Amino acid sequence: MTILITGAAGYLGNQTAKKLVAMGRPVRALVRTRAKASLRLGDIADRIDIVEGDVTKPASLAPAMRDVSAVIHYVAIAMEKGGQTYESVNYQGTVNVLKAAKAAGVQRFINMSQNGARADLPYRFLASKGRAQEFVAASDMQWTALRPSAIFGPQDEFFNTFARLLKLSPAVFPLIGGGKAEFQPVSVHDVVEAVIRCLDDDSTIGAELALGGPEALSLGEIERRIIEALDTWRILLPVPVGLLRPVVRVMQALLPGSPVSTSLLDLLAVPNTVPDNALVNRFGMEPIPFSGENIAYLRDNTLSDTLAKFFGNATIN
Ligand SMILES: NC(=O)c1ccc[n+]([C@@H]2O[C@H](COP(=O)([O-])OP(=O)(O)OC[C@H]3O[C@@H](n4cnc5c(N)ncnc54)[C@H](OP(=O)(O)O)[C@@H]3O)[C@@H](O)[C@H]2O)c1
Repeated sequence: MTILITGAAGYLGNQTAKKLVAMGRPVRALVRTRAKASLRLGDIADRIDIVEGDVTKPASLAPAMRDVSAVIHYVAIAMEKGGQTYESVNYQGTVNVLKAAKAAGVQRFINMSQNGARADLPYRFLASKGRAQEFVAASDMQWTALRPSAIFGPQDEFFNTFARLLKLSPAVFPLIGGGKAEFQPVSVHDVVEAVIRCLDDDSTIGAELALGGPEALSLGEIERRIIEALDTWRILLPVPVGLLRPVVRVMQALLPGSPVSTSLLDLLAVPNTVPDNALVNRFGMEPIPFSGENIAYLRDNTLSDTLAKFFGNATIN
């Protein structure tokens, strides 16, 4: 039976599809645009079943659920744009996918949540992810939820954005919020491995599993490691988040591919560490550290790619 991946053309979806195909598992990819997805999925595009659908349009989801044994639900947006809201995609989209799966008789549902997501938070992104997971948990599906901290690896959005902004900044770079926010960066390889293990491990049914790397790092330390990976230097100047807010507002208004939004700045207020790390405590894995050769990919950001991404609304990660 087929494994359906929603958001298969995205960062995690793409990596998961590639790994499942390499394992010989049948994969169906739910994507919004076949042509864009085929480009992103590269040489596995003709080895999987690609189905177009939009999680905000329930009627488009039924065809994707045919003969599916499990759904891996990845679709979510970190920034609202073009009519796509946290409510319509992250919350209602999850409701729609789960209902379509249930209607088709699919029972296994892996929901990609987020470390720190909680329905009652005042931060709209985390609240939408929290409400989505509450809906999944209240269903009678055989669900498992994963809650990773910030994910790193080639083509990641979060850490590559820092690398791109660093390349554009002369001598001085803001130490955002004094660099105090905490993260536990986790490798995309470890996250995908955990997702795939959950598929075949019924003991994870009904569990919410937090995923993190081996170290809790302050944003200041993360910035320093990225600077080191780029083999460069910057003076890190502490800047309160409140002072960055107007700058980010202007970036959002002027740049078609703005890398940050004011609602993402809010997330710095929420600790993003993982005291009970399922990678270690549940799966007995040794998580990959955010250091050395593991982050050498950050050097691959060229100035022209960066400008295309920020100013041209480039769609390829
Ligand atoms: N990346 C991280 O650091 C991180 C950390 C913790 C949790 N997560 C969670 O992991 C999941 C995957 O994240 P990611 O980094 O892989 O995200 P991503 O690269 O942005 O991928 C998300 C995918 O969702 C698709 N999508 C957006 N709106 C849609 C809609 N209305 N209908 C159908 N598809 C739609 C996008 O399609 P298009 O290509 O057409 O835009 C994109 O391919 C998300 O749930 C995220 O919250 C990510």
